[in-house]
Amino acid sequence: MQSHQIKSFEEYQNACQRSVSDPEGFWSDIASTFTWRKKWNTTLEWNFEEPNVKWFKGGKLNITENCLDRHLKTRGNKLALIWEPNDPKERFVRYTYRELYEKVCQFANVLKKNGVQKGDRVCIYMPMIPELAFAVLACARIGAVHSVIFAGFSAVSMSDRINDAGAKMVLTSDGLNRGAKQIPVKRVVDEALESCPSVEKVIVVERLGWAVNMVEGRDVWFHDEVKDVAKDCPAEEMDAEDMLFILYTSGSTGKPKGVVHTCGGYMVYAQYSFMNVFQYQESDVFWCTADIGWVTGHTYLLYGPLLSGATTLMFEGVPTYPDNGRFWQVCDKFGVNIFYTAPTAIRSLMGGDIDDVLSYSLDSLKVLGSVGEPINEEAWHWYHTHVGKERCPVVDTWWQTETGGIMISSLANVTPTKPAHAAFPLPGIQPILVDAEGNEITDNEVEGYLCVKFPWPGMIRTTYGDHERCRLSYFSTYKGLYFTGDGAKRDENGWYRIIGRVDDVINVSGHRFGTAEIEEAINHNEHVVESAVVGFPHDVKGQGIYAFVICKDKPEREDYLRAEIIETVVEKIGKIAKPDKIQIVSGLPKTRSGKIMRRILRKVAEGDTSNLGDTSTLLDPDVVDEIKAGAL
Ligand code: WT7
Repeated sequence: MQSHQIKSFEEYQNACQRSVSDPEGFWSDIASTFTWRKKWNTTLEWNFEEPNVKWFKGGKLNITENCLDRHLKTRGNKLALIWEPNDPKERFVRYTYRELYEKVCQFANVLKKNGVQKGDRVCIYMPMIPELAFAVLACARIGAVHSVIFAGFSAVSMSDRINDAGAKMVLTSDGLNRGAKQIPVKRVVDEALESCPSVEKVIVVERLGWAVNMVEGRDVWFHDEVKDVAKDCPAEEMDAEDMLFILYTSGSTGKPKGVVHTCGGYMVYAQYSFMNVFQYQESDVFWCTADIGWVTGHTYLLYGPLLSGATTLMFEGVPTYPDNGRFWQVCDKFGVNIFYTAPTAIRSLMGGDIDDVLSYSLDSLKVLGSVGEPINEEAWHWYHTHVGKERCPVVDTWWQTETGGIMISSLANVTPTKPAHAAFPLPGIQPILVDAEGNEITDNEVEGYLCVKFPWPGMIRTTYGDHERCRLSYFSTYKGLYFTGDGAKRDENGWYRIIGRVDDVINVSGHRFGTAEIEEAINHNEHVVESAVVGFPHDVKGQGIYAFVICKDKPEREDYLRAEIIETVVEKIGKIAKPDKIQIVSGLPKTRSGKIMRRILRKVAEGDTSNLGDTSTLLDPDVVDEIKAGAL
């Protein structure tokens, strides 16, 4: 397998040039290194108005043949997947490519036996156990569309997503381990399914050995179903533009949207970006700490590494259990060479005892990666010094659920790195900065809105069931451009530095929430009249959630009310969206047209009330003084 791995800065520059002057030739060469049942007729068809983007039209393939079958001859006995459990005392499990192939085929046969067909949507709500990886790939094998929902989301969130996707089946487990806690996953599924008429079957994988409620005719145990199925399963032939998966993500308005990725383009981009950013070498052990419930887990725990014939590590636990040395212990245990995590994890460990890192050798590490939010310089230096021993480049990878793979990042040891800078676009990616009117800013030492002006194979195709929403969210703000929702700077040398969201989206520990989504949840509480949510700088999470809430009556005990509001948010969205601060207010700063002045609320939440700007145009300027005085 030829890899198109870039080896020098000069090669990088040449690849960039060619990808602009001849994008179709560029991507066509890369795509040719994969296994296709039938070659495509047209490399690219596109416009950003509708939008309509089609890569490798007419091509036929199955992504799992590229992840598994094609490696069997040369890498059949190579490790594909290493699984490390939550509890270090429990035994780890390893699967060679041959074994993984069989596990995936068996799971695929279980799906088929239970009525799943090509095109059906399958919702996966599972812990980080090997069966989750098998399940995802099994869907892809038979042409079913997987929609993984992070197992920290609530029943309400799950049912919203299941109903939006019209999923026919749910794959889950009895329970899950997270650090010292055990969580009854199946119970959450049962609650969600009370309002999901499309779901016909639930397959339950045993993890904790708990006795769980099994609904007759609907729920079956995986271990019963898998007993008599074959270890081979023919891969369904898919069109390059057939859906591969849906992944829900929050935006500035309404409910989360189902980002749709398709088989051919996503495959090419996942593999190309993986090989180049991390500079994977044949014997490396690669560890991405993200949960498969997020896009990072999809692209860089599963698809990217497996498409490259790599050894990928999957970890069930958390960085702080049983102690703060857990990540580093796992790195030493398996000789991890490339380690990819989020700034929030680094910051949570930075606060602890330095010996938790220094007592491990970390000799095997060669490359470190960061993803999910801007990495602050302090965290970058700690990571570079104590984990990477100043020997490993830190690649700061900027991308999004919608982009399918890494867009802006240094390539390890090939292009230079700089703290807090994602740095350079990958070959094939054409980012630009625009001003508020959408005019391209071509100079350096500038700041603007980050857009992309040309399609790339891994990009979003639509939002499930509502193409207009895709157009409005990403392609309508600036004509003819994909708008990322991020602001960015470009320094004097052309290096990109991502500043963060410029819309009403907050990034909490690398996870996106729309302020509107959290407000809607809070407003469900019976005591609440109205609320406004903003982000504020948080030492570990990057951004915390600050809620200003108007209540029907003045509460007797504010702390009780706060606890109740938190409970409402946990019920509607999940623990990951818990507000950090809730300030009870009698009014919100609104313009005469009724628009909430979030700028003022953000300043208060940041603790900077010195310069609130002109508040005289507000409907009720006095409310600002009250809010300032009551700030938490
Ligand atoms: C948003 C996308 C894609 C992986 C996980 C998050 C922010 C992501 C970086 C980075 C600065 C980053 C952006 C982006 N973001 N990576 N390296 N530097 N910001 O995926 O949930 O789709 O969120 O995360 O704001 O728009 P996501």
